[in-house]
Amino acid sequence: MTHGSGPLDRDACLALDAQDPLAWVREEFELPAGTIYLDGNSLGPLPSAAPARVQEVVTQEWGAGLIRSWNDAGWFDKPRTIGDRIAPLIGASAGTVVVGDTTSVNLFKALVAALRMRPERDVIVSEAGNFPTDLYMIQGASELIGGYEQRLIGDSGPELVDVLDERVAVVVLSQVDYRTGRMHAMAEVTRQAHDVGALVIWDLCHSAGALPLSREDCEAAFAIGCTYKYLNGGPGAPAFVHVASRHQGVARQPLTGWHGHQDPFAFTPDYKPAEGISHFIISTPPVLSYAPLESSLDIWEKVSLDQVRTKSLALSGLFIDLVDAWLGDHVEVVTPREAGQRGSQVSLRHPQGYAVVQALIEAGVIGDFRAPDLMRFGFTPLYLGHTEVHDAVATLRRILGEGTWEDQRFHERAKVT
Ligand SMILES: Cc1ncc(COP(=O)(O)O)c(C=O)c1O
Repeated sequence: MTHGSGPLDRDACLALDAQDPLAWVREEFELPAGTIYLDGNSLGPLPSAAPARVQEVVTQEWGAGLIRSWNDAGWFDKPRTIGDRIAPLIGASAGTVVVGDTTSVNLFKALVAALRMRPERDVIVSEAGNFPTDLYMIQGASELIGGYEQRLIGDSGPELVDVLDERVAVVVLSQVDYRTGRMHAMAEVTRQAHDVGALVIWDLCHSAGALPLSREDCEAAFAIGCTYKYLNGGPGAPAFVHVASRHQGVARQPLTGWHGHQDPFAFTPDYKPAEGISHFIISTPPVLSYAPLESSLDIWEKVSLDQVRTKSLALSGLFIDLVDAWLGDHVEVVTPREAGQRGSQVSLRHPQGYAVVQALIEAGVIGDFRAPDLMRFGFTPLYLGHTEVHDAVATLRRILGEGTWEDQRFHERAKVT
């Protein structure tokens, strides 16, 4: 994003925003005036159509339709129909994704299913810096089934190639690191794991809606992810699980609820797994929670992920350039500067990062903080422009320059950071 000897100035940002092919999408979201929202990597904003869709589901489908809506409004099939709408966003085919439960629960299902496919192996590989729930679910599943060694890569530990061998059953990785924004080359890593006969589960929480994924990336593996970040499905929105076609029928998940049965309404006493991806559904789907996600997917169906990626890299590149130019003495950029190696966020290290983020939020720029010292900023091209990125860094410069963050009120830790 540099031009000449420095980063873009505000007028150049305004000019870029005026030509932005995605500028119209901003109108599809409700964003409070006077706020620059750089936390869509944690919780996406409200799609403008969502309140009416929620109202429709509540008053018409539930209120008027009552029990009939399980059939008439397609409630029963929502895990699959919404899964088919998410599939193209993660490089998956129709019939390989279902939506329901949480990311953690979906990871548990995929992990136990994958471990059962490699009964003779006793190692699970993950990354020391992986999102904690992933590590905790690995530990819980290992404890339950028993006898698994956990090998962790990264964080100055070994590389993947150093830990892969014939004992590895499953590799569980987040494609984009939640703290640093660093991105794995998904297809290549999957191939490396498959070469030793291991299976791969990708956590796509920071990828879905952030960047395009190809069939090559996703089709060979298991994947899980949430819909409340870049997919803008709302707080606690249901998560997705993808199971490659070639694993379906073989992969047996452990939470054998009635909606994953071949014929739930036969009410027979013995569990028989449903064909295909339906076996990964557990129970009664969260109908009300799908409603905002459906409004968001209506928007996603009108935009090109390639355009989203191009703009995302332009915005994050501009942010890094401005930080380098204005704030080099105050903060350290921990996200890869190489565009191909980062997702859609940039993280800055500052020893008092929590207080700095609180001061920024009070000044109208919303980012977040991850212990011990990282300030995270998400770049979401559907509703952010270059000028806002420029103004956000200018605000950060002011706060760091004036030492605003030193005020005691910015140091009191809330439960959610
Ligand atoms: C990479 C990653 N995995 C999982 C989760 C959360 O899982 P859950 O939706 O089960 O709370 C997060 C939440 O931020 C995440 O960043």
